[in-house]
Amino acid sequence: MSNTRVLITGANTGIGFATAEKLVQGGADVILACRNPAKAAEAQAQLQALGGKGSVDVIELDLNSLASVKAAAVLVKERYGSIDVLINNAGLFGEALYQTEDGYEQQFGVNYLAPFLFTQLLLPALQQAKAGRIIHLASVMHWLGSIKPETFRQTSGSYRAVAAYGQSKLANLLFSHALARQLEGTSVTSNALHPGGVDSDIYRDLPKFQYAVMKPFLIPTSRPANLITKMAVSEEWATRNGQYVSAHMPNWQSSSAKNSKLADQLYLQSMDMVREYL
Ligand SMILES: NC(=O)c1ccc[n+]([C@@H]2O[C@H](COP(=O)([O-])OP(=O)(O)OC[C@H]3O[C@@H](n4cnc5c(N)ncnc54)[C@H](OP(=O)(O)O)[C@@H]3O)[C@@H](O)[C@H]2O)c1
Repeated sequence: MSNTRVLITGANTGIGFATAEKLVQGGADVILACRNPAKAAEAQAQLQALGGKGSVDVIELDLNSLASVKAAAVLVKERYGSIDVLINNAGLFGEALYQTEDGYEQQFGVNYLAPFLFTQLLLPALQQAKAGRIIHLASVMHWLGSIKPETFRQTSGSYRAVAAYGQSKLANLLFSHALARQLEGTSVTSNALHPGGVDSDIYRDLPKFQYAVMKPFLIPTSRPANLITKMAVSEEWATRNGQYVSAHMPNWQSSSAKNSKLADQLYLQSMDMVREYL
């Protein structure tokens, strides 16, 4: 993994942190893109203490703000020029209806639209590398979502957190597929995964009882971290493109996820939504 530069969003905890651990141990140069500088510094210190051969850097990235996404991407391009792997990992499960700084429903904005913009802005840096890989953290929960443009900027009315999360994860998967088709035959690939039901901070807002019921069925963060590390740096994944795999359950995709017309439509709509930041 030496001389491989990997940027992981939301790497201060959970699946992102566990993946960073494996990559640091393998000697990669890792960039932690996080919203909370104190948490990021703590993660950086823990990762540096592993004594890997590569560097462990931090950049600030708040997916709640498209301006922050733009600033982070500009910094990455100026500071590094090229990156080998982008892991779009950061995400949240939002129980209540909130909006991002740009007025998007929070799960749609943070889990999907901001990573969409970040990826677009970093494509030239991935193309600068000998071979670039983009990895999207989707979810089996995409089955519970559908693409509803009227909810992208939802501010009121009935809100189903699971449906909104499902929409954002379906959008991650559709984006990965649309991008993979565009990148076919180039030096950059795009793939997605379901990490499993993973024991991480994502369940921090669940009632204690509900979490206690779920906990025995959750897998440790090391399981998806192993798969993501393979997708990021293994020879086996060097040319795989447009795939969806799972660290835990079967990697079945819903008919919406396989709908390339829907993927292309969402892609164009998303380009319009982020145009002023491109
Ligand atoms: N855990 C599961 O069972 C599961 C299942 C399917 C898919 N996933 C997906 O896996 C990915 C990682 O989740 P996880 O389970 O590791 O969750 P986690 O432990 O809660 O970690 C999520 C990371 O995303 C960061 N994040 C949240 N909002 C952000 C924002 N506005 N800007 C930048 N970073 C932000 C968090 O930062 P803070 O620490 O500052 O909050 C944290 O670093 C997510 O995309 C999630 O949807 C998880």
